[in-house]
Amino acid sequence: MQCCCEEGKGSSVRLSGAQVDLDLLNEVLAHYREQEGSLVTVLQKAQEVYGFLPLAVMRHIAEQMGVKPAKVFGVATFYTQFRFQPVGKYLILLCQGTACHVNGSERIETALCQELKIKAEETTGDGLFTLSNVACLGCCSLAPVMMINGRAYGPLTPDKAVSIVRDLAKKEKALVKEGSENEN
Ligand code: FES
Repeated sequence: MQCCCEEGKGSSVRLSGAQVDLDLLNEVLAHYREQEGSLVTVLQKAQEVYGFLPLAVMRHIAEQMGVKPAKVFGVATFYTQFRFQPVGKYLILLCQGTACHVNGSERIETALCQELKIKAEETTGDGLFTLSNVACLGCCSLAPVMMINGRAYGPLTPDKAVSIVRDLAKKEKALVKEGSENEN
């Protein structure tokens, strides 16, 4: 995954004290522990496993890799690709890479933010959607593109993006309704 940097983000980061199963990281740590310069890769893998980087996970990584926790926090908070709070059921990765940018990704972002009533990097109050701006997703021919839980959607227009998100929200509502009917 490519990364984009934003120095100084660390001071405003809210870390999550969520309790998680640290054993899920055993395989990753066993593989990378001895590899010099692999801290960013380990953090990326950890985020793939947990969806974000809880405080306990960063402490565990520091301990297992023999580096100071401050170094792990420093590296993690340096890169905008890392998240420190749980994400919604649907993680929307909106590409802001060059091809997507010139094809209107900012308009897509505005439309999604309006629809979801959140800003980028936030999660909706119902816990359904997190919107995150990312660098090139590697499918520029679809620009402008977004990826939701691993599936790429593009080329997008603001209306198309909103309708995709609305369909997912509708599907979720139907699932909740079905669940409550089955209970009765
Ligand atoms: S720039 Fe958006 S997918 Fe490459």
